[in-house]
Parts: sequence; structure tokens; C-alpha cells
Amino acid sequence: MERTTPPTSVVIFGGSGDLTRRKLVPALHSLACRGLLPPETQVIGVARTPLSNSAFRERMYEGIVEYSRLRPGICALWPRFSDNHSYLSGNYDEPETFHQLEERLDRIAAQVNGEVNRLFYLATPPALYPTIVEHLGQAGLNTSGQGQVRIIVEKPFGQDLISARQLNTQIHTVFSEDQVYRIDHYLGKETVQNIMTFRFANAIFEPLWNRNYVDNVQITVAENVGVGHRAGYYDQAGVLRDMFQNHLLQLLTLTAMEPPTVFEATSLRDEKVKVLRAIRPISRSVRAQYTGYLDEPGVAPNSTTPTYAALELLMDNWRWRDVPFYLRSGKLLAAKTTEITVQFKHVPHLMFPVDPGRPIDPNILSLCLQPDEGIHLRFEAKEPGSGMRTRPVDMEFHYAHDFVGELPDAYERLLLDAMQGDASLFARSDEIELAWSLIDPVISSWTDSDSHPVAYYEPGTWGPAEADELLAQNGRGWLRYCGEHLHGSESVNP
Ligand code: BG6
Repeated sequence: MERTTPPTSVVIFGGSGDLTRRKLVPALHSLACRGLLPPETQVIGVARTPLSNSAFRERMYEGIVEYSRLRPGICALWPRFSDNHSYLSGNYDEPETFHQLEERLDRIAAQVNGEVNRLFYLATPPALYPTIVEHLGQAGLNTSGQGQVRIIVEKPFGQDLISARQLNTQIHTVFSEDQVYRIDHYLGKETVQNIMTFRFANAIFEPLWNRNYVDNVQITVAENVGVGHRAGYYDQAGVLRDMFQNHLLQLLTLTAMEPPTVFEATSLRDEKVKVLRAIRPISRSVRAQYTGYLDEPGVAPNSTTPTYAALELLMDNWRWRDVPFYLRSGKLLAAKTTEITVQFKHVPHLMFPVDPGRPIDPNILSLCLQPDEGIHLRFEAKEPGSGMRTRPVDMEFHYAHDFVGELPDAYERLLLDAMQGDASLFARSDEIELAWSLIDPVISSWTDSDSHPVAYYEPGTWGPAEADELLAQNGRGWLRYCGEHLHGSESVNP
């Protein structure tokens, strides 16, 4: 059932920045093209850079041409939609900026002659979040006489548990938790939401989804690009803060959680929180840096910032006790791929003669999240001919074959949900804090370079040998099954 979107004024702090031009306005444009935004929708960019309304619109148009899924060639909406875009230049630490904003919002509401919701989006550098939130509160913009007021907070949400807690406390002095939408764009991806559909709209997989049948679960988020122009941020953050605290742990919670009773924010987030609470302190980890990272502009000389990490996670609950979850992510690896691979146990007894050179493979289920979106199930089949030799084969589902059209961008889904007041695909404060409480000790343990030396890997490979060792010690190997031509494991399973 399609929900309706109420008239909303979307206020983007950081309106002159890259995220607004590359992601937010192109996503709003695609939503408008799909007929999902009411005509009263307004977009107000706020930033320090002086810009006229027309210069702002021009910048947004360039972003739409370059990045929108439904570009102006496909959807001729811009001439009308552009009128709904305006710009306000001002300093975030001056009350005057917020008074002007209030006036503009009131004017819009008066023109619409009805209720207009307000959606604030923090897309500035995170250091500015507290100032903006405080001024929104002081100007009384956290509530409204009419319509709902909500705030989206971009990642990173803190850089450790202490700063995340402080930010939560500070936001909560101005906004109530149900007004706050902490974004993780991975949750807006169609294939990530499909983890829930796959698990809970099918009867045949869930009975196997536990320690009785699963040997291990692997979550790989590999990128084939380096840090690029973001070294200033990245060198401070490193891969655990950039990818694990948010995206990888979100993927893990969706894969491991119990079925929520209904698809609704509280129920869903309660189940995710239970998973995070069940994870033991992480004791096995590998950190690594790609060779050449130190030559990237903006990277500190002798930086030990990891651009790759691999972790083993174990959970203390009935479903997953003793089933390792292996998580890895890195920059400048051999390919871009995000996949969740469930390796099932070996059959208890094999009645067929086994080729000594090739022991029979366990079943593998791969959720291919990007870029070749789909699902693969690997099982043994009889090789045609005499005898009873077996060979692994694949059953595959590809979005591109079964569904028409490009998948919506994650920001389309998340912006629309926030406008409609659905926080299911946003992180709650306790989720964020629990995630940091798992990641912080790993980062601290890495400061001791004797017990956790930095490993190195060559660009274009699958990471350091030490990450293979992490699994090999338990007789396992990393698996990759997504992608057109990839039907194999990286290392041989014993
Ligand atoms: C961002 C990280 O959150 O996610 C980036 O800051 C990373 O470093 C990006 O490149 C990956 O997102 P996606 O959607 O391309 O997998």
C-alpha cells in the first residue's frame, strides 16, 4: 500500500556542499518525477557560502543532470521543480540565520494555506551538528504550531562511544527521539531491505538460518577505489569508523536478528538492538593498509590508519552460538562487491564415492547486494554420465532479469520515509551507541602495534594474507560468489 507524503519544507544545512548536489537534490528530483512528492514540497539550502537563488538552482540542476537516476532527459520536471528551490546564506552560529529561516518557513506555510511539515537535514561537517541543533532549538524551530518537525543526521554519528553519546544527549535536549532520523544509506538500498523479505517472506530458508545448519556467515564490503580526495577525513577515521560501525554492523543485524512481529520502526530496531547486545567483545581482528596510501594527498606521513579490516564476531544467543560471523571491508581491493554469504554445514554422511582431489562442497547462499544485485544458491548436482560423480552448480536470481528498470537510489527511499515519518530504516540512539561500544575496543587494541601490527596489501588484491589466516586458523576460507563469472572460493575449503 502506497503511503501519502505530506507537504514538506526540506531544509538542507550544508546546502552548497557535495552531498546536496550529488545525492540529496537528485534523489528529491527522482521522487518528484515518480509523482511521490506533493507540489508544495520546498527545498531550502542553507550554508555559509554566499549564493543567489539562481546560482543555487543552477548548481542543483548540474547535480541532477550528472547524478539523478531520472535525469532531465527522462523526466522534464525541472522547470517546475526548480521554482521550489531556494537558498539562504548565513553563519550557523548566528541566531539571525535561524530567524531568517523561520520567516521563510512561515511564509511557505502561509502560501500553502495548510499544514506543512519541516524536515531538517544535517549535511554539514559533523563538528557543526551541535551548533545547528542548538540554534534550531533556540529559534523554536524544533516544534511547530502546525505540521511535524523532523531532523535527519548524516553519518558519521560521533567518532567513538563518548562523542556519539554526547551528540545523542545534545540532540535530545532539542528534539525527541521520534523526531530524529540517523541515516545509514545502506539501509536505503533495495537489496539490503530484501534481506528481510528473503528471510521473512519465505518459509523455506528461516528454518535453516541458525547454528544447526550454518557453519559461518561472511559479510564482504569491498571497494575498488582508494580514499581519493577524502583523505583529510579518512585518515582520521579509518575503515572501522567509516564502514564497520555503521554499514557492516547494520548488515549483520539484519542477517542475524529474530523475526520482528511487524515491519515497523520499534519492533525492527528492538530486534537489531538484541543482536548487538548479544555480540561478544571482539577479540580477533586484522587491520591493514594498501601500499601507496601514504602517498595519497592529505595523508599524514607514517600514518597507520587502516584502509582494510577483517573481524570475527561471535554471538551469545541460542540461534548463533559458536557460528562465526566474518566481516571484512577495504579500499582499493580487486573489485567492488558487497555480499553476504552463508556457508552451510557439510552433510553428516556422504553415501557417494568422493573424488579425493575435490571433497564435496557445502551449500552456499549468497545475497549479492551490489553491483550485480541478486541471490545465488550453490548446491551439488549429479554430473551426467555413468557413476555418481557430483559437481557444484548455481541457482541464481538477478534483479536485472526479474525486475524492470534501475533500482531506486538509497537516498530516494530514505528521504521519502523521513517525510512520511517512518523511521524503520534509520538507526536509533541505542543502536548507534551499542555499535560504537563494539568498535571502540578494537580501535583501542590496535594502538598496541606489537599485538596488532598493521598488515599491508597490494592495490587490486583481496587484502592481506593475515586476513586469510584469520579464517584459515579455523579451517575456513573467504568466499565470493556474486558477479557474473565468479563461482568460487578465494581459498580452498578444507
Ligand atoms: C560511505 C563511506 O559511507 O560509504 C565511503 O564513507 C564509502 O568511504 C561508501 O566509499 C560506500 O558506499 P556504497 O554505497 O558505494 O557502497
